[in-house]
Amino acid sequence: MFGSTLLSRLSLLWLATAAIISCGASNRNGKPNFVFIITDDQDLHLGSLDYMPLVKKHLGKQGTFYKQHYCTISICCPSRVSLLTGKAAHNTNVTDVSPPYGGYTKFISQGLNDKYLPVWLQEAGYDTYYTGKLMNGHSTSTWNKPLPAGWNGTKFLVDPGTYIYFNATFQEDKSPPAPAPGQYNTDLVKEKGLDFIDTVAKSDKPFFVGIAPIGPHAEFTRSGPFTKPVGATRHQKLFLDAKAPRTSNWNPDEPSGASWISRLEKLNDTVIDFHDGWQVGRLQSLQSVDELVGEVFKRLEHYNLLDNTYVIFTSDNGYHIGQHRLQPGKTCAFEEDINVPFYVRGPNVPKGKTVDVVTTHTDIVPTLFELAGLEQRSDFDGQPIPVTSKAIAQQSKNKKRDHVNVEFWGEGIDEGKYGLDAPNNTYKAVRIIGERYNLLYTVWCTNEHELYDMTRDPGQLNNLATPSKWRTLILNQPISKLQARLDALLLVLKTCQASSCTDPWSFIHPEGDVVNLEDALASKYDKFYAKQPKVSFSKCELGQILSSEGPLKGNSYHGGELWPHWV
Ligand SMILES: *[C@@H]1O[C@H](CO)[C@@H](O)[C@H](O)[C@H]1NC(C)=O
Ligand SMILES: *[C@@H]1O[C@H](CO)[C@@H](O)[C@H](O)[C@H]1NC(C)=O
Ligand SMILES: *[C@@H]1O[C@H](CO)[C@@H](O)[C@H](O)[C@H]1NC(C)=O
Ligand SMILES: *[C@@H]1O[C@H](CO)[C@@H](O)[C@H](O)[C@H]1NC(C)=O
Ligand SMILES: *[C@@H]1O[C@H](CO)[C@@H](O)[C@H](O)[C@H]1NC(C)=O
Repeated sequence: MFGSTLLSRLSLLWLATAAIISCGASNRNGKPNFVFIITDDQDLHLGSLDYMPLVKKHLGKQGTFYKQHYCTISICCPSRVSLLTGKAAHNTNVTDVSPPYGGYTKFISQGLNDKYLPVWLQEAGYDTYYTGKLMNGHSTSTWNKPLPAGWNGTKFLVDPGTYIYFNATFQEDKSPPAPAPGQYNTDLVKEKGLDFIDTVAKSDKPFFVGIAPIGPHAEFTRSGPFTKPVGATRHQKLFLDAKAPRTSNWNPDEPSGASWISRLEKLNDTVIDFHDGWQVGRLQSLQSVDELVGEVFKRLEHYNLLDNTYVIFTSDNGYHIGQHRLQPGKTCAFEEDINVPFYVRGPNVPKGKTVDVVTTHTDIVPTLFELAGLEQRSDFDGQPIPVTSKAIAQQSKNKKRDHVNVEFWGEGIDEGKYGLDAPNNTYKAVRIIGERYNLLYTVWCTNEHELYDMTRDPGQLNNLATPSKWRTLILNQPISKLQARLDALLLVLKTCQASSCTDPWSFIHPEGDVVNLEDALASKYDKFYAKQPKVSFSKCELGQILSSEGPLKGNSYHGGELWPHWV
């Protein structure tokens, strides 16, 4: 009796193990899987996550939230290209949504179709799948010129039907584009994403599945301006009383910002009502995204894949509605536009934790490389984000990264019927956050400067880079002294590559005794910083024309002597 019980127990155990293997939790060559969900224009500062209970349940409670995660360029196509290549926009030179400076054709002509995430993951033995929006300008006329490389299966949204909520155009694998009239865009992206999870569950190879719904992006049909986002029919009665959040910097009495922003008029009630309706549309459109997230987790759980899969949730860039008197849109260096949602859930990722490590979209590919055990490429401008409990603990002991390089070329884009496309929106900025400082410094192509102390002025209304504020103290130092340091840092970042992007201070101070802004403020460096060339422009260009971008290189500090950076 005893023997046969043991035997049946053993065979049960064997059956159970076999069942787990066939359900997908096989070792997949020892590599983890990735599911990457990216929304379009979702804010972190206008409260949209509060309307996404399934994101909170599956990612917030079961994963880690990175509250200081940033995009490095606040517009869709350039941001997505940076994200997929691990490179800053000044290095991809895909800096706009359409030619000559951006869009899918620029991605192709820059040679990036052979040098981006899915290609590298396939080389490492991954199966790769993607549904939804890849990037602007990937369209019914460019989709096969050539096909995006590196994918085992694709169900792309393509222009001009990408942003039509009830008549999207999909282009699948090698088939020609086809419209989907009458069906809700995000629900289709959800179904297609779930199909891919069904596909990868049957394989024993590691996988990457990218799911890129367009919610809560504005609707854009073939003609006319952007119009408000549209929810699925079942969601169109929800949140009708919601308003664009009246943040401290919403429709301020005094103008704020620089360049075209500083000339905006106060919003009147007609415009404010229009903005509130816009926010209702955004929240409604995000309901289907929330459902998508819930279904993805259900499906991963069904196949027993959660133990070996990292799920990342983020947005390509942030969003503002009425802050600084702005029409709905992005394209600014303000916090609303660059600080974006970022959640990670997966093996050994702390559950329900919020961390303040400063991270960016250019760090995402290096992070996947690290998790997959691949060697970092030497041309990555980012570095792995600590995601496991161990890596997070390690990070807080090591020197903390404190800066984010933010850049933009071209026009400010206002969405909706009251805006105007605004020229002279080219700028270089650095967002810098340490234990005792929290700043944004921006130099515009008009040579205007902005400096905000975000500890005292989180709404970024009080520009300290103006002569009347020069006596203000930050870190017990006058603004002029601080600005000299920030300018030198920005000079390195605006043309940085690889380690000069991740570790700019050691580029300025090769002797290694300066690792953050506070170290750099020591008075023994005053003369050195006073002599550095300043970030400036000779013209406002629509793209990266280096001859209009002022000094490109500064000096390094060597025992009190100045050496050019390239030495
Ligand atoms: C995915 O594509 C790669 C590269 O072409 C190939 O080696 C791999 O076998 C494909 N996987 C599947 C499941 O077809
Ligand atoms: C849907 O879009 C296609 C083009 O992609 C167009 O030909 C068709 O008329 C549209 N259908 C509706 C119902 O708008
Ligand atoms: C409100 O502002 C908009 C945009 O400037 C303008 O078109 C409209 O005429 C204004 N409405 C009123 C009632 O002043
Ligand atoms: C744009 O900036 C240039 C300086 O590069 C300036 O001459 C021009 O007046 C500005 N245009 C507008 C509309 O602000
Ligand atoms: C970026 O691309 C534009 C458009 O092709 C080109 O004019 C410019 O020189 C390029 N900039 C750099 C730095 O390569």
